[in-house]
Amino acid sequence: MNNLKFFCGEGLPLEMHKVKIVQKLELKPIDKRLEAIQEAGNNTFLLKNRDVFLDMLTDSGVNAMSTVQQSAMLNADDSYAGSESFFRLEAELQRVFRKKYFLPAHQGRACEHLLSRVLIKSGDIIPMNYHFTTTKAHFRLQGAEILEIPTDEAFNLNSKCLFKGNIDIEKLKETFERHNKDKKIPFVRIEAGTNLIGGQPVSLQNIKDVYALCKQHNILLVFDASLLQDNLFFIKTRDENYKNKSVLEICNEIAENVDIIYFSARKLGYARGGGICLNDKAIFEKLRELVPLFEGFLTYGGMSDKEMEAVAVGIRETMDFDTISQGPQFIKFMTNELIKAGIPVVSPSGGLGCHLNAREFLPHIKEDEFQSAALTAALYIASGARGMERGTMAEERNADGSERIAAIELVRLALPRRVFTMSQIKYVVDRITWLYKNRELIGGFRWKEEPKILRFFLGRLEPLSDWQEKLVAKFKEDFGDSL
Ligand code: F0G
Repeated sequence: MNNLKFFCGEGLPLEMHKVKIVQKLELKPIDKRLEAIQEAGNNTFLLKNRDVFLDMLTDSGVNAMSTVQQSAMLNADDSYAGSESFFRLEAELQRVFRKKYFLPAHQGRACEHLLSRVLIKSGDIIPMNYHFTTTKAHFRLQGAEILEIPTDEAFNLNSKCLFKGNIDIEKLKETFERHNKDKKIPFVRIEAGTNLIGGQPVSLQNIKDVYALCKQHNILLVFDASLLQDNLFFIKTRDENYKNKSVLEICNEIAENVDIIYFSARKLGYARGGGICLNDKAIFEKLRELVPLFEGFLTYGGMSDKEMEAVAVGIRETMDFDTISQGPQFIKFMTNELIKAGIPVVSPSGGLGCHLNAREFLPHIKEDEFQSAALTAALYIASGARGMERGTMAEERNADGSERIAAIELVRLALPRRVFTMSQIKYVVDRITWLYKNRELIGGFRWKEEPKILRFFLGRLEPLSDWQEKLVAKFKEDFGDSL
């Protein structure tokens, strides 16, 4: 909710929904938290949810649903082929994305898999604003290299730039000139709400500029709309030209300036699933052959009919400004509280979650000793809140086998939409502030078990010293018998 002033002058985000159903949480004592993270190889992906107090790992598939979504799920038309639920979802997507064809898939990475198979050949180069982990893995598996060409502001973690997800147009021109004569670039990819640089948005003007250049060179523009809802909010609130446009109008205008849209409905649409929308008949026909092979029949693609109903309503609700305001406004509140406490965070705040700058938080830890992972584990121990390492552990090794040090080391504290309360956010801010005061106690990690691909999911780390025990001892000294 934007247009609301408080008498006291404080700007608090005010929820435009009420809670109708809840899940009980448990905060385990700190000794149990230490045990749990060590058993999990210091990887928060490997924690059991029963040991987690506030799950800020991701927004994926865990956004709170609306009553309208829940009731639509009861109305699902369960059928293997030709389900009405599919046609309701297709119609909704056509309304917002204005593309003729829709292919369902079970989640976002499934779309990346299908698109890679149809569009990429070995040796190709895919320019993009920034990679997402699953995107990079799928494109590389198909033999392509990815080329990240965001503007330099993307890596400025304390920037004033309001659209840090933009592609650098000059670099894109150079890239086209260098590689396109060998037909090496099948498409450019733009990711809305650029995840790994802190949920940072792309401007509509940038999308238009990239599209115009792509058209000149006969190259497709593929748009990852997984984090589109936050990006829509930022276009409306940060770009003067769009403040009077409706969310639907903005969404339509984006869609008119890209060729192929794919999305994870675990993020976009407050449910679970995914899909690809496009107008090109030839590409559609090639993709269509793969859907039944890898996903499921063409009218469900791995989603349950209930989920398709929930996604359709979720997409419709995404066109409501109040609905999409809650996430970015809570994130802004949390980010600003941390800034007030002098804690290094990514600014301006983006979508998806609040991002701690682990490299600045822990400058005493060496770059190859996993600063983000260390801070993520320390925060879990101190608070029971589960964040996600978004740094070197989430990279893949260089071709020569050396460790690739991430350009930025972040801890992502996702705020799944409509899930957490203000006091829960204040609690996490409090524990981060305590950690910051005691940051010298936090030490580094080394690999214990390192998977070859997407290693952050299942990899295990071990501490280089007994720093975790010392952190627990200090916590007890400061907080007594508090949880
Ligand atoms: N693209 C983006 C921008 C994403 O953030 C994700 C997932 C995907 C594609 C893949 O979608 O998970 O449905 O297969 N992001 C999740 C996250 C996993 O936690 O940020 P998926």
